[in-house]
Amino acid sequence: MRILSGIQPTGKLHLGNYFGMMRPVLELQDQGEAFIFIANYHALTTISDANELRQNSLDVALDFLACGLDPKKAAFYRQSDVPEVTELTWMLSTLTPMGLLERCHSYKDKTARGIAASHGLFAYPVLMTADILAVQSDLVPVGRDQKQHIEVARDLAIKFNNQYGTVFKVPEADIREEVAVVPGIDGQKMSKSYNNTIEIFGNAKEAKKRIMRIVTDSKTVEDVKDPDTCNIFALYRLLASPEQQAELAAKYRAGGMGYGEAKKALAESFESHFAPLREKREALAGDRDYVEDVLRDGAQRARKEAAATLQRARQAVGLE
Ligand code: ADP
Ligand code: TRP
Repeated sequence: MRILSGIQPTGKLHLGNYFGMMRPVLELQDQGEAFIFIANYHALTTISDANELRQNSLDVALDFLACGLDPKKAAFYRQSDVPEVTELTWMLSTLTPMGLLERCHSYKDKTARGIAASHGLFAYPVLMTADILAVQSDLVPVGRDQKQHIEVARDLAIKFNNQYGTVFKVPEADIREEVAVVPGIDGQKMSKSYNNTIEIFGNAKEAKKRIMRIVTDSKTVEDVKDPDTCNIFALYRLLASPEQQAELAAKYRAGGMGYGEAKKALAESFESHFAPLREKREALAGDRDYVEDVLRDGAQRARKEAAATLQRARQAVGLE
C-alpha cells in the first residue's frame, strides 16, 4: 500500500497539525510505502518572502524528523524537488471543470481572509491532485478540512482514466474521526489563522501560558463538570494515557476541582510528551547536512515513481 501526505511550510506546527496530520502519517509509515513531503509549491500561494519560505521548509523538515519520521521507511522530500508534479498539474488542469474548483471551500475561505485571489490559489487542488497521483498513492491521511480536495483528486483520476485509459490509481482519504478537529485555546478549530494555537516546538513557557488561557465555561470549583464538552479535556484526551484520562474525568464529574487544575494536568502531559522531541529537534538542527541528505534521498525515490507515472500519462494523452 502507498501512502502520501504533505504539509505546507507556512508557519510553526501546532497540536492540530500534529494530531490531525503528522501522527496519522507517521503511524502509517510502518504499514506501507510512505511518501511525505513539504508542500513548498503550495506555500508560494501565500508566502512571498524567499527567506521565509526557505526557513519554514527547513523547520518542517526538522519537526517531522524530530517527531519520528523514519527516512529509511518513508520517502521525505521537498515538493519542488519533484518537478514532474507541475507537468502533471498542467495535464490535469486541461480536464478540470471550472465548477469543480469553484465549489472548493478552501479557496473561498482563504480569499475571505485576505489572501490574494491568484490563479495558483484557485488551481491549488489540481496541484494537490498531481502530488497524489504522481506517486500512485492509495491512501491520503489528512485533516477533515482537506477532505474536499481528496474528492477533487478522485474525480480527476477517474475522469483522466475514463478519457485516456487507466493510468492513475484512485486514492482514498484517511481521516481520523477521533482527532478530525483539534480545538484551539478559544474552542474554535485550532489554526494558525485564528491565533489560537499551541505550538509543538515553541517555547515551553509560552505553551504553558497558552494552555492556562484555554477558554472554559464559568462553573465554580465546587460544580460538577462535563469532560466531554470541555476544551481542556479534548486536548488532554489526545496526550494522556487511558488511565490518566479516566482519573481526570472522574475529578470533573465529582466536583471540587477547578479548571486551573485540569489545565495544569494538560500542561504536564504536553511537556512530558514534547520535551524529549524538543531535544531531538535541537540535535537535528545542528546537523544540516544530515537533513539535506534525507531530503535529497527522499526526492530521488519520489522522482523515480513520478517519472514512471509521467511517462505513462504523456503517452496516454499523445504528447509522446
Ligand atoms: P492551519 O489551519 O493552521 O493553517 P494547515 O491548513 O496548514 O493548518 O493544515 C495542515 C494539516 O494539518 C492538514 O492536513 C490539516 O487538515 C491538519 N490540521 C490543521 N489544523 C487542524 C486541526 N485543528 N485539527 C485537525 N487537523 C488539523
Ligand atoms: N493542501 C494540504 C494542506 O494545506 C497540503 C498538501 C499539498 C497535501 N499536497 C498534498 C496533503 C497532497 C495531502 C496530499 O494541508
